[in-house]
Amino acid sequence: MHGPRPLEGTVGMAGAKNSALKLMAASLMVPGEVVLERAPQITDVDLMADVLRRLGAGVERDGDVLTIDSSGELLEEAPYELVRKMRASIQVLGPLLARLGRARVSMPGGDAIGSRPIDLHLDGLERMGVKFSSQHGYVEGVVDRLKGTRVLLEFPSVGATENLLMAAVTAEGTTVIENAAREPEIQDLAAFFQACGARISGAGTPTIEIEGVDGLSPTRHRIISDRIEAGTFAIGAAASRGDVTIEGIEPLHIELPLQKLEEAGAEVTRSDSSVRVRMSARPRSIDLVTLPYPGFPTDLQPMMMVMLAQAGGSSILTENVFESRFLFVDELNRMGSHIRVEGHHAVIRGVERLSSAPVQVPDIRAGAALVLGGICAEGVTEVYDSGHIDRGYEDFVEKLQALGADIEVRA
Ligand code: UD1
Repeated sequence: MHGPRPLEGTVGMAGAKNSALKLMAASLMVPGEVVLERAPQITDVDLMADVLRRLGAGVERDGDVLTIDSSGELLEEAPYELVRKMRASIQVLGPLLARLGRARVSMPGGDAIGSRPIDLHLDGLERMGVKFSSQHGYVEGVVDRLKGTRVLLEFPSVGATENLLMAAVTAEGTTVIENAAREPEIQDLAAFFQACGARISGAGTPTIEIEGVDGLSPTRHRIISDRIEAGTFAIGAAASRGDVTIEGIEPLHIELPLQKLEEAGAEVTRSDSSVRVRMSARPRSIDLVTLPYPGFPTDLQPMMMVMLAQAGGSSILTENVFESRFLFVDELNRMGSHIRVEGHHAVIRGVERLSSAPVQVPDIRAGAALVLGGICAEGVTEVYDSGHIDRGYEDFVEKLQALGADIEVRA
């Protein structure tokens, strides 16, 4: 891509990746046809569709509508060759245990953003009566009937909260998840289950209470919009000193990122379902700390790093959720930024302009950030392994082109 170019115009958002993947897994618990509207057209959704098919469900896509039919007999095994491609496959564990009383899921390995254990998922499920064993790289769980209980999470893990919520929906008795994650995607999952007949209260707060029901009935559900995609374009507007209106979103879901952009000098106009972000001057330096929702999302940390790399002054960015998320800093420094990492802090000394360089994408979010870097940098930037970005962003390049970016994809 050729920079620098300000991003200007209006852009619409897709359904949330992190909601879609969990709703697809949850559909395994509903014997019948579930319809998910606004499913993003991204490769992670395709991968989850492969996992569901492998487990015996039927999955059809028509535009952004997915139909999942889990009325037939399901299998219990999610194999290595699929789980290794996408960690979120672990979210089938709760639904399989709920539906079949057994599950065999390949242990997810580490990935480019660090080691990501599943101990909190397993501890919570054990409390609900599951007996786990692990062998040959697989974790196997068996349970007669899941039993409601109290689970206090050591950390508000998104994935663990979701697996426990799914397991609890048809368990015997009441489950209370304390120190639960509060991400909007968890509220979306609860709303889906409620429409299927589940009894859940407190989703979106630190205490979720689930009263088990005997069965679930099929529903049609519209997935919430992708707040990380929205945040990416909001930060892109500010970083490129542009003016972008982002439509089809829930502005409250990105309130903290918007506040931080305002602190850095952006003018932000919020309305019911859209937000406009304008930046006319060089961004100001700010300090930033990532935290579980409603804190600043770790998934938007790389994009903020790109903006702050060009700010007037020095910023300190602290990563509290995934310790290895700073790996892409070496790539960004190849584009002329001055960033020094010490443990989970990054000290960013802003430069006037980034300069183009060939860079390599390590993961979805860092990939989007490096593309934003290329849009802001002087000269022609080549981004390698950009396929990672398609895992999480629908039509990323097309949307950027429509906002004026000079960008092309070469096979
Ligand atoms: C989800 C999102 C991801 C986002 C993250 C944090 C999906 C598909 N992915 O990932 O985009 O960056 O939330 O907002 O929704 N941990 C443990 N033990 C566990 C589980 C987690 O130690 O059993 C640790 C992880 O290593 C990490 C932290 O908890 O340091 C947060 O992980 P978690 O909230 O579970 O993230 P994911 O659900 O994997």
